[in-house]
Amino acid sequence: MQKKISFIKSKKNKSKIVCLTAYSKNTASIIDKHCDVILVGDSLGSVLYNFSSTKKVTLDMMIEHSKSVRMGVKKSLMVVDMPHNTYRTSKEALENAKKIISKTKCDAIKLEGGKKVVQIIKTLIKNKIQVMGHLGVLPQSATSFKFKGKNIVERKNILRDSKLLEEVGVFSIVLECVESSLAKEITKIVRVPTIGIGASVHCDGQVLVTDDLIGLNKIKARFVKRYSNIEKQINNAALKFKKDVVTTKFPTKKHSY
Ligand code: KIV
Repeated sequence: MQKKISFIKSKKNKSKIVCLTAYSKNTASIIDKHCDVILVGDSLGSVLYNFSSTKKVTLDMMIEHSKSVRMGVKKSLMVVDMPHNTYRTSKEALENAKKIISKTKCDAIKLEGGKKVVQIIKTLIKNKIQVMGHLGVLPQSATSFKFKGKNIVERKNILRDSKLLEEVGVFSIVLECVESSLAKEITKIVRVPTIGIGASVHCDGQVLVTDDLIGLNKIKARFVKRYSNIEKQINNAALKFKKDVVTTKFPTKKHSY
């Protein structure tokens, strides 16, 4: 695990970091060879369970999905999101992070926030837990999903938080919907890699939600680029299956005992 963390850190200023989300074994095993990091994101709440926000995602949900993902990840660094209300105090965070790691065998955890969670992150790192930070739009507490860095106060706070996270020892920082020039500045200043989602090409790497990438989730966000249309393929396969079933073309002898 330490080797994988060092590898991710060593990519800063050399080559871009590729990160995608996975919520189950099958997806994880397909994307593993192309990724540096696979994130079991709490975005699974909205993507899979249709929750209106990630706030309803539970520790047990994250653990069960992560156990499945673990079976598909061989090469990438596996990071698991700590869900909302599971890291309100250092004690709670440590207990829950240990639980996630022991049950899922993930390499690291991610949690959202800057100044407010710095002491918590410090405790986790002191206890040899690898932490990925997350700044900018913070879905677990956000009231608005507008990009961050519009005004001086926002910019100052995010910059300060990036430095704080670096100081306490996170191995990388996700920047979600952060204005381009600010993402560029942070990436230049902090020595750990930044991984952007809607935070410009200047970050040290990029992350996308796989279901968005393959056209399975119909989110319309500026930062999403759809690379394939799996919905169409599933639709075609189901339609062909239906036709074969109703015309008794399936199953043939070949598919029977
Ligand atoms: O939950 C998630 O998938 C995330 C990424 C979008 C960074 O946090």
